[in-house]
Amino acid sequence: ESAFIHRFEPAANAGSPPLLLLHGTGGDENDLLGLGRMISPGAALLSPRGRVLEHGMPRFFRRLAEGVFDEDDVRHRALELGDFVTEARQRYSLAAPVAVGFSNGANIAAALLLLKPEVLAGAILLRAMVPLSDPPKNDPIKAALGGKPVLLLSGQADPIVPASNSARLAALLSQAGASVTHKVLPAGHQLSQADVTLARDWIGNVD
Ligand code: MLT
Repeated sequence: ESAFIHRFEPAANAGSPPLLLLHGTGGDENDLLGLGRMISPGAALLSPRGRVLEHGMPRFFRRLAEGVFDEDDVRHRALELGDFVTEARQRYSLAAPVAVGFSNGANIAAALLLLKPEVLAGAILLRAMVPLSDPPKNDPIKAALGGKPVLLLSGQADPIVPASNSARLAALLSQAGASVTHKVLPAGHQLSQADVTLARDWIGNVD
């Protein structure tokens, strides 16, 4: 059962890829609609609410502590999200979306890229970290991820994501075949205006 509470906004500009908006811990399906509109005006927006609750706060997978993930749950939830996207694409007649994830939402998007890349056309990962310590490294996954564009934006002073961790994620995705652009911004875990500007410019060059 891959039903997610979600918001959907149809495209006003059929030329741009749909965006799959994935909120951070404690957010919901409304949080990133404004960000999505700023990054790609007129794109279709598909925005699910994470189905895991941590003290009442929605997330996309379970964690044992901050930055320590229940990796079995990461795998299970990433595939469940992939099924939701596949069903939503049929229901709303959508092309494969570009994920735009923040924090926990960026981490599930990274997991989806590593486990089932064919679901996504690419991804903007805002303050992401390595979601799986030992992701599968097989040829079909490499082939499906091959050349997919990924923009990873990290905060230089992020107290949750150490610089070494985001660098490792960039390397992991590159080695798995993605075409990764990694930028480290003068920011913490929260988003800054630079995130919006860089994401908008980057997606303008994705077809
Ligand atoms: C996570 O749990 O995915 C990361 O710690 C980021 C967060 O949600 O705070």
